Amino acid sequence: MAFSITQLIEERQDDQYALHKSYINPSMTRVLGIIGFNKKYVRGKGAYLWDIEGNRYLDLLAAYGVFNLGRDHPVVNRVLQEMLTLERPTLVKMDVPLLSGLLAEELVKRMPPGLDAVFFANSGADAVDTAFKFARAATGRPRILFLDHAFHGLTLGTLPANGGAVFREGFGPLMPGFDMVEMNDLDTLEQELHKGDVAAFIVEPIQGKGVYIPEDDYLPEAQRLCRQYGTIFICDEVQAGMGRTGRFLSHQHWELEPDIVTIAKSLSGGYIPVSACIMRRSIYQKTFGPLDRCQVHSTTFGQNDMAMAAGLATLHVIDEEKLVERSARVGEKLLAGLAALMERHELIADVRGKGLMIGIEFRPPSGLKLKAAWMAAETAQKGLFSQLLVMALMRDHHILTQVGGPGVNIIKLLPPLIIGDEEVEMIVSAFDDVLGEATRLRGRVWSLSGQLIKHALAP
Ligand SMILES: Cc1ncc(COP(=O)(O)O)c(C=O)c1O
Repeated sequence: MAFSITQLIEERQDDQYALHKSYINPSMTRVLGIIGFNKKYVRGKGAYLWDIEGNRYLDLLAAYGVFNLGRDHPVVNRVLQEMLTLERPTLVKMDVPLLSGLLAEELVKRMPPGLDAVFFANSGADAVDTAFKFARAATGRPRILFLDHAFHGLTLGTLPANGGAVFREGFGPLMPGFDMVEMNDLDTLEQELHKGDVAAFIVEPIQGKGVYIPEDDYLPEAQRLCRQYGTIFICDEVQAGMGRTGRFLSHQHWELEPDIVTIAKSLSGGYIPVSACIMRRSIYQKTFGPLDRCQVHSTTFGQNDMAMAAGLATLHVIDEEKLVERSARVGEKLLAGLAALMERHELIADVRGKGLMIGIEFRPPSGLKLKAAWMAAETAQKGLFSQLLVMALMRDHHILTQVGGPGVNIIKLLPPLIIGDEEVEMIVSAFDDVLGEATRLRGRVWSLSGQLIKHALAP
């Protein structure tokens, strides 16, 4: 009998949670149940998901920034189908494939001046690992500096550059040579760089965890200091790049000229894992220059034809649909709509972001009874209030959002860049509603808190 994936899916759809409980991550299945995210999604298109019962959900996670084009983009879909008919010989390895050359050429066109050498990898962390290795090889120095709240991946090579202790705990000893500096503290940065042993300083120009944006002069000045002390300046654009913030690369908001840029996530339109580390040729050659070292860094699936074709199609779509401009325009509207809610809801402490990378931060209410409810939630687990809102947005509005980082009362929005006025209105009115509810102790938001607190306190 011929194997049919459609038939297999139809026959086994109901087993999804049981399978994960048995074979993958039972804790994840439990968490999804507790927070009311235990749906059975059967379709994804554009900015929406549909569950098995036909309910539609607006997806503001976009797989943490993978679906900038929206799901199942017809152009990328068609290109991949076309690729499957071509019988091209991918991954020959002792080869220099055409498609990776073409994608490298397209990427270089979109980079700051001087960044003309590309290494393709498979994930964001893989690209950041590459950046660290190449920076060490190019400078002969051991140390890497990173920022508080930073997130650059969870492999053993990127973990020591993680600003969130919760991600590092339990996985030590971590690689030595990594030191954290505070965002906006240029004096300490200079003191560290002055020691002369820093290979690279890595930043997310707009940070993914918490959507923190540095003060205006911080990044340009940090770049200048890096140049002064011979340190490689890396901009990690894995999340904020590819049009997310209303520029193709987020560091363009400050007209920076980093030495290395990393991108990943939506580079393949969400179809194939892929990433790229783009740098100055002089840095690249320090690793690969001698002929006997021309393969000293590699990854088996790097430059695979399907990912490269998807990348080329994705860049084409970003240009054709003017998604970067759209992200800036729609993001401005969404930001303004959410910021206007601050007048009506004292629970909002801040609304910030650029383009369609937006963070909404919350603060305790002033009323005594509500404050007590907030404190009870926060004592059980930091950031629990924003989790309550995430749950209410899902339950009452079918909108998927996420808490913006560990232990913070921030909700992060990363919608596909294709959203428009209709979605902006949906999002703003949903927040208006759940925040209104959150001011009523017996309302729908706090009714979820007892259960969450119980689970938070459970050993
Ligand atoms: C800025 C940044 N760098 C690196 C990574 C790691 O990417 P990946 O999960 O593909 O390894 C992420 C993931 O969210 C990220 O946001």
